[in-house]
Amino acid sequence: MSFLKFFHVLAVVIWVGGMFFAYMILRAAAGEILQPPDRLRLWDNVFARFFNWVWLSVIILLITGFCMVYLYGGLTHVSSHVHLMALFGMGMVSIFIYVFFISFRRFRLKVASQDWPGSGAMLATIRRLVGLNLVIGLSTIATAVLGGAAGI
Ligand code: HEM
Repeated sequence: MSFLKFFHVLAVVIWVGGMFFAYMILRAAAGEILQPPDRLRLWDNVFARFFNWVWLSVIILLITGFCMVYLYGGLTHVSSHVHLMALFGMGMVSIFIYVFFISFRRFRLKVASQDWPGSGAMLATIRRLVGLNLVIGLSTIATAVLGGAAGI
């Protein structure tokens, strides 16, 4: 069980930590220094690399999470904080799938055709959705750790 939990938390660190860095630090730094074409090309490159790690994290998170639920005896035998975690987790995965297959794909096409206002608008959409997933991710960590400690 500790082995599964280790990889579960590692996946959380990579996904949520990566979103925190992108949203809170890289966005401000890139906005201050780079003009739109370079800034948008940078984000295209950053997302292409980061989203590979997110896919890996999503797969590890779901496998380890549901393996732990199975070892606890199934969803009827785990406490409410695990139900909430699974619910929030599925919400995060759905938002990521939308961002990856819809928003990021449109963003890439607009960057490739050098449509800077269009790609800027798509980047704003991705930023809002990543921000939403960051808030859900941090709330899920709080639910997992504090809910578990309180025995909820
Ligand atoms: C998607 C489905 C998910 C399932 C089925 C799941 C399931 C679980 C289970 C069964 C545990 C062990 C609980 C315990 O031993 O008390 C756990 C631990 C944990 N989960 Fe998840 N989880 C999921 C998603 C997430 C997500 C999205 C996050 C955070 C963004 C997260 C963060 C954590 C953390 C931090 C722990 C360690 C809690 C502790 O031991 O104090 N989980 N998860």
